[in-house]
Amino acid sequence: MATAVHGKTILLIIGGGIAAFKALELVRELRRAGAHVLPVLTENGARFVTPLSLGALAGEKVRSSLWDLEDEAAMGHIQLSRAADLIVVCPATADLLARAATGQANDLASTILLATDTPVLMVPAMNVRMWLHPATQRNLATLRGDGVTVMTPDEGEMACGEFGPGRLPEVPAIMAAIAAQFGDKPLAGRHALVTAGPTHEPIDPVRFIGNHSSGKQGFAIAAALAGLGAKVTLVAGPVHLPTPVGVSRIDVITARDMAAACEAALPADIAVMVAAVADWHVATAGQKLKKGGGAPPALTMVENPDILAGIGHHAQRPALVVGFAAETEDLLANAAAKRARKGADWIVANDVSQGVFGADATHVHFVSAAGPEDWGASPKQAVAERLAKRIADHFSP
Ligand code: C5P
Repeated sequence: MATAVHGKTILLIIGGGIAAFKALELVRELRRAGAHVLPVLTENGARFVTPLSLGALAGEKVRSSLWDLEDEAAMGHIQLSRAADLIVVCPATADLLARAATGQANDLASTILLATDTPVLMVPAMNVRMWLHPATQRNLATLRGDGVTVMTPDEGEMACGEFGPGRLPEVPAIMAAIAAQFGDKPLAGRHALVTAGPTHEPIDPVRFIGNHSSGKQGFAIAAALAGLGAKVTLVAGPVHLPTPVGVSRIDVITARDMAAACEAALPADIAVMVAAVADWHVATAGQKLKKGGGAPPALTMVENPDILAGIGHHAQRPALVVGFAAETEDLLANAAAKRARKGADWIVANDVSQGVFGADATHVHFVSAAGPEDWGASPKQAVAERLAKRIADHFSP
């Protein structure tokens, strides 16, 4: 996907935040992928990265001021705003989002954003309170309404010591979002339903049965399908992952909620069921269980709906149904049997005996009617892109 940026000109606006230093890594990756980078550094951005290091990495003059006569002579801000195939704002601070959302033009960066007719991708990074503030959320909605693509920040510990959403997304995710702006859209007009993450089945009001699924693989697949132009509905179990650009997300907790959300999302052309769904729920999860000195409580388990099998045999079955299989033994035989039993076209089989849950890398076998293919060891992101490409080829070979 990253090759989609080859030969493209990216105007990169770097705002003033602690994450600005990561923009240098982005410049390096963009150039490695064959892009031409025009760097614009805001006054506050220059407090975090120097024009010297930015200019050296970009191999271009760094522009900062509206009033630099030399720049005006060489390329005025209006031409500059039209010179790129894509404008990327990284990091997009709360202040830059606010100024862009209200159409201000009081420095070079905001003037370019107001004057441009080029697509804009914003990559926000800020303190969690600033991100969650209703004013920032309003600005976000305004910008998205204006057609700007705004990535969702990552969640985690922040430079300021607080915890929550607001961290700059990782550079590979930013690269994927940039590539998605340029790539072919072979899945345009197709609706894809993707499940991801674990489910939590309550034992009582304070306890649950869960599993170690991180949701990374399913989220990466949702992102890759959206990147190829599909309309994606992502039904996610309880995970802490940002919603990929262009994906509609429905959060659920239990397998039964997930089944209902999938049913409500039909019709779809494509279903990719990646979630690690609990096979059973507890029959009576009413009051909190207490130690009473007697025998430990017995839990009565009831089987959950098999969402993949339900979709695979549905009256409104999507044209292409893909399941995942996590196995610790007889990987290929179990995957082939699962494919037939659940009415899936393809099964992506994972050997989970070596700790795939939560990891960034995996080793999958792709099982179709034609038999198994070993896709080797690779990052989950690469599996997602390969599977999305395969899905696109299935619809337009
Ligand atoms: O039977 P098993 O859990 O190994 O099957 C895995 C596949 O079935 C995955 O694609 C998973 O998302 C799906 N599944 C489901 N609903 C269940 C159990 C599994 O959709 N209740």
